[in-house]
Amino acid sequence: MNKPRRALLKVIVLGDSGVGKTSLMNHQLPGTKLFRYVYKKFSQQYKATIGADFVTKELQIDDKLVTLQIWDTAGQERFQSLGSAFYRGADCCVLVYDVNVQKSFETLNNWHEEFVKQADPADPDAFPFILFGNKIDGGSSRMVSEKKAREWCASRGDIPYFETSAKEGYNVNEAFLCVAKMALEGE
Ligand code: GTP
Ligand code: MG
Repeated sequence: MNKPRRALLKVIVLGDSGVGKTSLMNHQLPGTKLFRYVYKKFSQQYKATIGADFVTKELQIDDKLVTLQIWDTAGQERFQSLGSAFYRGADCCVLVYDVNVQKSFETLNNWHEEFVKQADPADPDAFPFILFGNKIDGGSSRMVSEKKAREWCASRGDIPYFETSAKEGYNVNEAFLCVAKMALEGE
């Protein structure tokens, strides 16, 4: 039997403070291992990330054992001091906004730009970005429509889009599976 091939892929998660980046990353994919963090249940209590930290998620894609090294960054400006060395070698960039907060959608342009500037990918247009619209459990407090989000994705060269809820675990696995596939393709 052939041994499954392995891949270690670096993923960087960016977005405004409070959109749910840390909550999304702490979500456990069933049947996969999550290191570094002990699996925590969704927490309502907000603790801003300071600097950066990562979790690893292992998943099997076809005959490959893929380890995602997912870097969680601080959305708060006063903690943003990550130099370009941090971004280099990234295989995928996850952008996150909160569907209930208009500003977190508008700043996506800045996060996208920041990543391109810092990571300096060979071909920014071909680099695998993905967008998560988080907190869709908010119901009527929604401020950004799915249509608007998809338009933004189209304007950025057909970035895949997932609507997620870290609180309810909705679509989180599917979104990270897409991250793994995209990162693997671009490797
Ligand atoms: P920074 O570390 O400051 O950049 O913020 P962050 O993007 O990591 O946000 P975090 O995951 O810490 O979540 C911020 C707050 O939003 C917390 O109180 C979470 O409980 C809450 N939250 C995260 N995801 C969801 C979600 O899908 N739905 C709801 N209703 N709340 C969420
Ligand atoms: Mg955080």
